[in-house]
Amino acid sequence: MSSAQIKRPLQSARCGALTGDVRVPGDKSISHRSLMFGGLAEGETRITGLLEGEDVLATAEAMRKLGAIVTRDEDGTWHVRGVGVGALREPDSVIDMGNAGTGIRLLAGIVATHPITTFFTGDASLCKRPMGRVADPLTEFGAKFITRDLGRPPMAVIGTDEALPVTYTLPMASAQVKSAVLLAGLNTAGTTTVIEPKPSRDHTERMLRHFGVEVDVQVNADGGRTVSLTGPCQMTAADIVVPTDPSSAAFPLVAALIHPSSNVTIRDVCLNPLRTGLITTLIEMGGDITITNEREEAGETIGDLVVTGKNRLKGIVVPAERAPSMIDEYPVLAVAAAYAEGETRMCDLEELRVKESDRLAAVAAGLAANGVVHRIEGDDLIVTGGVVPGGGTVETHLDHRIAMAFLVLGLGAEQPVMVDDAAPIATSFPIFEQLMADLGTNFAPVKN
Ligand code: S3P
Repeated sequence: MSSAQIKRPLQSARCGALTGDVRVPGDKSISHRSLMFGGLAEGETRITGLLEGEDVLATAEAMRKLGAIVTRDEDGTWHVRGVGVGALREPDSVIDMGNAGTGIRLLAGIVATHPITTFFTGDASLCKRPMGRVADPLTEFGAKFITRDLGRPPMAVIGTDEALPVTYTLPMASAQVKSAVLLAGLNTAGTTTVIEPKPSRDHTERMLRHFGVEVDVQVNADGGRTVSLTGPCQMTAADIVVPTDPSSAAFPLVAALIHPSSNVTIRDVCLNPLRTGLITTLIEMGGDITITNEREEAGETIGDLVVTGKNRLKGIVVPAERAPSMIDEYPVLAVAAAYAEGETRMCDLEELRVKESDRLAAVAAGLAANGVVHRIEGDDLIVTGGVVPGGGTVETHLDHRIAMAFLVLGLGAEQPVMVDDAAPIATSFPIFEQLMADLGTNFAPVKN
């Protein structure tokens, strides 16, 4: 049964200093892509460090339905025997992507230029999320989409085998949309180009190269990027070592910063420069974070984070341009801001409204329930830090990051903070509660 079906309330109470040396699970973005690209490549791809969260397991199952052979050894090594670009099989049943927005959007790109019809569905959260942002450019290739009202899943994709190459300027900063278009380009004769006004995470570009695809990336005068590839492309199986997820590391990181005597090391974190906005921000806020042991592995920079709570955080203005490099980290940054001295303004959070939940509304409601002073001005969130009263219950709306962020809020609050449902944490960070308990947190189940 998926995490979406049984609600599991959890309470987080004030704890002492956090100490320890931990390793969070594999990066979610890289894990999805490794299974998809392995399934499209010729030969066998071996993946170590894969995130075994529900979202990624849904992608593994989807790739099986599309014809790839996906297996797991007892030691956690995954093997994907791919079918080759253009050779995916039509699934004989509906693909259920659960909570996985990255999974459904990237797969939509892949199947759009295969001559097959694919039906996708998902949980109540995914079925509220807009797919028009991928359906629009993918329709230009010649694919057809059938969605519910407002472009929401369940969704059918009728792929084409006569795809026309597309040049597409992204209307929003989105690695998912960029990736969907590039992946459709793999089985399209001619050059597919994506112009992104603000650079977003580039795991697709890096990993496609690792699988032997030539990807051209130009940095534009305005700081944006033009990314192109020329199809039809052949992909060759390649081993992948998945680094750990900076978006998961964010939770023990902020937890350590809000407790004065904490001292925590977080190992092997992916430090791709398009993912490190939170670290930059927390350092600007005065956080004591040192990066050690920095190195390159499988095309990504990784390193260890050594964090102490010795400095009290201070409020700052987080610029809009930084948003794509920390887009998943705003809920936990809002928690850090609640403990900081003064006001923190997080600018231009419009994209947060279409995540696993409307994260801007969910964060504001969670802060309000726990007595944290804040306001929303346009698409900016402003939080005034200080003593956190706590004592409230937070609705998580099937959103793993809302659940984890507010469990971190409870660690320094005067009264415990309760989240109504911790089950969605399993989508991205199945060992969250154990890892946080090992550091000294105080989470307790609540009877519903
Ligand atoms: C992701 C891109 C981001 C991010 C998501 C993962 C990816 O979404 O929020 O968790 O793996 O490409 P958008 O592209 O919608 O910003």
